[in-house]
Amino acid sequence: MRSIKKQKEVLLGVTGGIAAYKAAEIVRLLRKNDCSVTVVMTESAKQFITPLTFESLTGRHVYSGLFDPQSPSAMEHIELSKKSDLLLIAPATANIIGKAAHGVADDLLSCLLMTVIKPIIIAPAMNANMYLSSVVQENISCLRKRGVKIIGPEKGELACGDEGPGRLAEVESIVDAVKTELKTREKLNGKEVLVTAGPTREPMDPVRFISNPSSGKMGFALATEALKRGAEVTLISGPTKQEPLPGIKFIPVVTAREMKEEVFKCLAKIDIVIMAAAVGDYQPVRYSKQKIKKDKELLVLEFKKTIDILAEIGKKKGNKILIGFAAETEQLAGNAKGKLKKKNLDIIVANEIGISESGFQSDFNKTVILTKGGKQEELPLMSKTNLAGKILDMLNPYLISSLTTTKKFSRLK
Ligand code: CTP
Repeated sequence: MRSIKKQKEVLLGVTGGIAAYKAAEIVRLLRKNDCSVTVVMTESAKQFITPLTFESLTGRHVYSGLFDPQSPSAMEHIELSKKSDLLLIAPATANIIGKAAHGVADDLLSCLLMTVIKPIIIAPAMNANMYLSSVVQENISCLRKRGVKIIGPEKGELACGDEGPGRLAEVESIVDAVKTELKTREKLNGKEVLVTAGPTREPMDPVRFISNPSSGKMGFALATEALKRGAEVTLISGPTKQEPLPGIKFIPVVTAREMKEEVFKCLAKIDIVIMAAAVGDYQPVRYSKQKIKKDKELLVLEFKKTIDILAEIGKKKGNKILIGFAAETEQLAGNAKGKLKKKNLDIIVANEIGISESGFQSDFNKTVILTKGGKQEELPLMSKTNLAGKILDMLNPYLISSLTTTKKFSRLK
């Protein structure tokens, strides 16, 4: 195992299962790999292993209750989540997995699951029947869709004597997963990322506009993922119901023209542009200051093209990496290839719209990703959170070094 270069802060949640004793070895290995570890135990974990063991191994206070008088801070769930680079729960019982999936926050660890915006890795360990029960499987799949990494469990003989899946994954595999995740999360350190999201609205009179059903979910997921990977993120979005995470510089806009103006105001400092917005292609030629009355049987409006923001950026690309989207109802790859070339992009994500399970409004997207260098990857239907990670992974070959803080990039040929 290669060690992690910089000292990282890992928050280790230990829950009440027989495998809790293995968490001591996880702490030892993480520390050997240049991680500082803070342990948060649930009350039932203390039935299996004592806080003193972890205090001795980490050299730190071990946290447990929400209202612990020994705790150095009254807002522990906030303080700990701010300081950490990653939350690992190992072993994770069916109970904590259920709480994580359904938003129950009745102790410190379950509160942390909600306050932590850093990566979360969960290593389940429980009886095989419990693990295979439909409720646990549904909860795990729900967490996966939200971007939580699940490691294990493994098959084998369980503490109760049963055979089957339920053993905590090997300690080395868990620590390797932590290291991989921490490395990924440093990929965009020092990079300035601009993401656009949502629809634009082109007004025709004070009460009417032309727009599209974009929810902004894809763009907001990309902004969140870029933030998690260490980037400085600016998010310019048309009207949506989404809330940007604290830490993202958020600029709300309404029209394509406003979006273009805001994009060009900040473009000089940007390294990576991701145009996920569904920018309106046409705007009414004339805007009526007064409400258009319904006195005609047939209303004919004239529209003119809006500016293609992405194509304009493409003309002044310089060293920037440009990622565009292509919303298509047919010939995904073919149409996207044309847009990739025409707009001078490095990567284009073609997403299928017009079907209920993918695209506008949906939490999922079915995409084909194409690069300037001729790579083409067809991805299955997946959550927009997970797709955001996949798209940002596509940037890896462009980055000179995962740990660099310079603004240089290498190009894919
Ligand atoms: N885009 C843009 N400005 C516009 C229209 C689109 O910057 N006025 C960007 C989108 O954000 C997206 C890409 O261009 O990243 C492709 O958008 P899409 O709507 O798929 O295609 P268009 O280029 O508008 O072409 P068409 O509508 O004919 O498919």
